[in-house]
Amino acid sequence: MDLGLTGKVALVLGSTGGLGRASAEALAAEGARVVVVGRRAEVVDEVAGSLPSATGVVADLTDPASPALLVARTREELGEVDIVVLNGGGPPPGPADAFTADSAQAAFDLLVARHVALVGEVLPGMRERGWGRVLAIGSSGVQQPIPTLTASNVGRAALAAYLKTLAGTVAGDGVTVNMVLPGRIDTDRVAQLDRAAAERTGRTVEDTRAASEAAIPTRRYGEPAEFGAVVAFLASQQAGYVTGEQVRVDGGLVAGY
Ligand SMILES: NC(=O)c1ccc[n+]([C@@H]2O[C@H](COP(=O)([O-])OP(=O)(O)OC[C@H]3O[C@@H](n4cnc5c(N)ncnc54)[C@H](OP(=O)(O)O)[C@@H]3O)[C@@H](O)[C@H]2O)c1
Repeated sequence: MDLGLTGKVALVLGSTGGLGRASAEALAAEGARVVVVGRRAEVVDEVAGSLPSATGVVADLTDPASPALLVARTREELGEVDIVVLNGGGPPPGPADAFTADSAQAAFDLLVARHVALVGEVLPGMRERGWGRVLAIGSSGVQQPIPTLTASNVGRAALAAYLKTLAGTVAGDGVTVNMVLPGRIDTDRVAQLDRAAAERTGRTVEDTRAASEAAIPTRRYGEPAEFGAVVAFLASQQAGYVTGEQVRVDGGLVAGY
């Protein structure tokens, strides 16, 4: 199926690794011109160099100036942003009874404020041109909070509320807004969380992963490419009537509908 993405400009945050990289690869394979973003300059260059028609921008999303910088650089190098994939590093793990007002503020800055600012930079142009795709990489924790990931649950639920509200506001202008929710996809972040859980419980990392896989109906972690394919579809022409959705890519992990 031709997804109709040839020549579209896709700004993909956190695309030097994991889910962001897989999303960038899937979009590039469909003919999109991708902007690769991350803090590690050499990896930004390496990933951008591995994709056709891609460019790289080094940026740290903890910097409040990063959204404007990213959009300005994209405009200079490739043109106006047609597709934005909101993504970045996850906040530190921790239980709800250790969550503080400072942790709440940090989660808000990382998972909400920067992404809202970035959407603010690209949305007027998308609406004017009558076409746009806003996609956010979230977490299954939006639908089923994960006890050890309070900051992630809180920040991503707030982002979800914003995006759902936005979806209804801009749908008439040809802009769709959706979230893609990973359960446990095999990336550095998940390996790091498994190591932290192993340290907490005194089990080996292998046992920790095996127990985690056993709780997933598919009995395995997902492949990043399986996630990227869903992102590419939601960015496609064919997905023009899908908006305000949360699409889980979780091997059946979340028990509810
Ligand atoms: N993998 C899963 O199954 C899963 C499940 C639920 C939620 N999530 C969430 O989905 C997001 C992506 O997950 P992942 O597994 O792909 O994580 P990952 O493998 O750790 O990759 C994170 C990406 O974000 C970039 N990044 C991190 N901090 C950044 C910053 N301050 N500024 C700019 N870029 C930054 C990293 O690149 P640099 O190091 O080059 O900056 C990297 O490209 C995370 O928020 C994670 O918590 C993932």
